Amino acid sequence: MAHIFVTGGAGFIGGNFVLDWFATQGAHADGIVNIDKLTYAGNLKTLTPLESDPRHVFSRTDICDRDALDTLFAQYKPRAVVHFAAESHVDRSIHGPAEFIQTNIVGTFTLLEAARAYWNTLDDGDKAAFRFLHVSTDEVFGSLSETDPQFSETTAYAPNSPYSASKAASDHLVRAYHHTYGMPVLTTNCSNNYGPYHFPEKLIPLVIANALGGKPLPIYGDGKNVRDWLYVGDHCAAIREVLARGCLGETYNVGGWNEKTNLEVVHTLCDLLDDMRPKATGSYRDQITFVKDRPGHDRRYAIDARKLERELGWKPAETFETGLRKTVQWYLDNQAWVQDVMSGEYRNWVSKQYAA
Ligand code: NAD
Ligand code: TYD
Repeated sequence: MAHIFVTGGAGFIGGNFVLDWFATQGAHADGIVNIDKLTYAGNLKTLTPLESDPRHVFSRTDICDRDALDTLFAQYKPRAVVHFAAESHVDRSIHGPAEFIQTNIVGTFTLLEAARAYWNTLDDGDKAAFRFLHVSTDEVFGSLSETDPQFSETTAYAPNSPYSASKAASDHLVRAYHHTYGMPVLTTNCSNNYGPYHFPEKLIPLVIANALGGKPLPIYGDGKNVRDWLYVGDHCAAIREVLARGCLGETYNVGGWNEKTNLEVVHTLCDLLDDMRPKATGSYRDQITFVKDRPGHDRRYAIDARKLERELGWKPAETFETGLRKTVQWYLDNQAWVQDVMSGEYRNWVSKQYAA
């Protein structure tokens, strides 16, 4: 059976990508070798539906471990690598950037080197067909003012947090491997995702979990920072398109055309919960609390995703309203998953981050 490698496939987006791959590609889907270190953000429970599916192979492997990667490449001879594995939370990168440098920069470099060594062993046909798709973020472009145009593929990089700086570095490495070695790479830069299996340290799942738990809903600063939001299933569909038909060496912006202030997002979530799981008295909005701002908090992100629509015909299927309703319903239906990931290390994080 032909295989693709997915790194970080036990995390939020990677997990959705793996599940969607088998759900959408039909009986003849290539197998997936899922390479994940299982940090606090990786959760095998997300992959339970694939437990007895022989097309899915899980390997607990650190992308910084070159020997282990070489062994996997030699064993499975993948036709592509889809690279999600990363440290992904801005607030954690502020408390401790070292892991971000290690995984996002050194890890991507190690993976590129292993992929290049393997790619060089392929015959001309397989070499031309091979793909290395690097999944990145809109945060590499820095912060916009209210009136600036959206980020396009040619916007200059200006990362502001240790997280976005480490992702920017990894994007540059991927680009360099195309220019210098001719490796067949593709890069996607996507806006904020939301949806099922999202770890509740990020805004949307945190607010849902805290609302249901009767806890404060913490809004940083004035709540007017703007993010563009995309349903995770739409992001996964975009990645499948770019993998299948993207132009080598190109980058593609992926976005939802949903610019919202954080306060708008939290209000919408509260209103959905008031409708779908009403409280005995009052509204979930009563739990909103303004807290100290994030240091260096980027004001606005916005994505111009027209290139992807023009060249590959992709556009999001979900609106913010339909995607958010689906997401809230998923969290209401999957409290066991949430309780499971909110144990142990998660509690330490919450007491450190929200102590003040
Ligand atoms: P996540 O934190 O939920 O998952 C990351 C996964 O990578 C986890 O399963 C973790 O165990 C694994 N991992 C971490 N370090 C590893 C290592 N050294 N070796 C192997 N595996 C390791 O992240 P996510 O939100 O799913 O993001 C996935 C990718 O998409 C990241 O590259 C991120 O930068 C990018 N991205 C995320 C968003 C978003 O809104 N979440 C938006 C755009 C781009
Ligand atoms: P987050 O989900 O951490 O994603 P990112 O920082 O990568 O965009 O945060 C989304 C927005 O929500 C960001 O502007 C920070 C803000 N935020 C809060 O206001 N309160 C919170 O508790 C969290 C986690 C985030």
